[in-house]
Amino acid sequence: MKALTLKLSSESTTSGKQAKYLAIADALRKAIKAGQVAPTEGLPSARKLAQQLLVNRHTVMAALAELVAQGWVEARERSGYRVVAHLPIQSSLVINKVQQTQQSFKWKFRVKQNLAVTPKIKASEYSYNFSGGQPDIRKFPFDEFKSHFAQACQRPKIDNLSYGDSRGEADLIEEISTYLRRVRSITDKELMICNGSQEALYMISQLLLQPGDKVAVEQLGYPPAWAAFERTGAQLIAIKQDERGIIPAHLAQVFAQGKVKLLYLTPLHQYPTTVSLDISRRMQIYQLAVQYGVAIVEDDYDHEFHYDSQPIAPMAADDPAGLVIYISTFSKLMFGGARIGYVVASNTLIERLAAYKALINHKCNVLVQQSVAKWMQQGGFEGHLRRMTRLYHKRRDFMVLQLKSYQEQGLPIHFEIPAGGMAIWLDMGKSIVGLKEKLLAKRVYLQTEVEFNIRKKLSDDDLSDLELSDKNLLDKEYRFIRLGFAAMNEVEVTEGLAIIMATLYV
Ligand SMILES: Cc1ncc(COP(=O)(O)O)c(C=O)c1O
Repeated sequence: MKALTLKLSSESTTSGKQAKYLAIADALRKAIKAGQVAPTEGLPSARKLAQQLLVNRHTVMAALAELVAQGWVEARERSGYRVVAHLPIQSSLVINKVQQTQQSFKWKFRVKQNLAVTPKIKASEYSYNFSGGQPDIRKFPFDEFKSHFAQACQRPKIDNLSYGDSRGEADLIEEISTYLRRVRSITDKELMICNGSQEALYMISQLLLQPGDKVAVEQLGYPPAWAAFERTGAQLIAIKQDERGIIPAHLAQVFAQGKVKLLYLTPLHQYPTTVSLDISRRMQIYQLAVQYGVAIVEDDYDHEFHYDSQPIAPMAADDPAGLVIYISTFSKLMFGGARIGYVVASNTLIERLAAYKALINHKCNVLVQQSVAKWMQQGGFEGHLRRMTRLYHKRRDFMVLQLKSYQEQGLPIHFEIPAGGMAIWLDMGKSIVGLKEKLLAKRVYLQTEVEFNIRKKLSDDDLSDLELSDKNLLDKEYRFIRLGFAAMNEVEVTEGLAIIMATLYV
């Protein structure tokens, strides 16, 4: 057939932005659309087109293959290419028409559950971030960790990099289990790696709870855990607490009313008040759980950071009935984005959890797990922990000094020095309603009592059942803030505290 008039787009001829073969496909398509070649008519051979366009024949072949894929031309056996009988332009015209008639229609997904949307500004974006459990990520030994990550890539364990055991990398399970045996006295349980402890909380809830069940939680507590429990249709029951942690006598009353399936506890550093639950209360609570057949989820989220003495061993370390499900995380030891957490429980529960995890996301990132395992094997992990514990101890003491100096200046603040953890629970001595919003405007982030108090979730009917002493914990009486001391240096803490105090006590 005669040569076609083909015009290559200037983008391909001058800037080279568009690949040559795509520009040729484009020019051929335009020629077909313009009627230079009719449907079913043959195209010039690839050799001729290559000569005409001064390009390699393979480039023309790639352009023709593109047009075949788009449905404009078809290959004829041993006789080159021809234009298809029905051009795709006709079907796209039909589609356009349908689209025009439906222009006003907007699809709406019918979502079954309304979840809270993640805040637009992250706590870390504020100039002073007092959020409670944040480590100082700037101090993480990235260079040291990088070498373990590089090693995992240089000598990959090919078999493990595919799908497979949802419990996690055997090396990491071994390292953490050994560490827990040595440092936290947890011996007779199985361990599985999760995408942070939040995934463990979610899976535990899905496996153990059903609508109508009750979950006993600390009255001041960790809302992400509550959200996971409530997602199953279970009802949260707040257990009263005092300055020593939750009150066993109230727990006994709640258990006696029936239907409680789980008790969620943060015994070492109560979240958010930081109080350690003493041995005698732990024993009473454990005995009640055995008596009423209630499983305990023990969330030991920042065990290592304890300053004044050795931390008390977890409840999971002395669990003859096997009802404690122990969860912990690397979010404080590394950073939240590492997404390494773990759950330790009886073999049967771990098997079920692993089967459930396979359903959600198969397994956690293998390279990260292998790198953390190497980091632990070679001692880097414990070295980092020692350095961070020393640093956070100093930072706790520094914040205590600062707060004491404000007390000396006459501010009515009050606090107990926490034996461990990463935050101070501070009574501001007057209502702090509205303080958070004012501070956010001044680039200071912190969390206030109302955010941790389950009472704020109660309806007016529920409230009328409360005793007067409980009512005092509501709205206008909120006085506490949680001040993280680990993530910021002394200058940042000094400046941030000055803004907080000046804002509340003007
Ligand atoms: C009480 C509590 N549990 C668990 C976690 C850690 O959760 P994750 O491992 O999902 O990062 C935190 C972190 O803030 C926490 O405060």
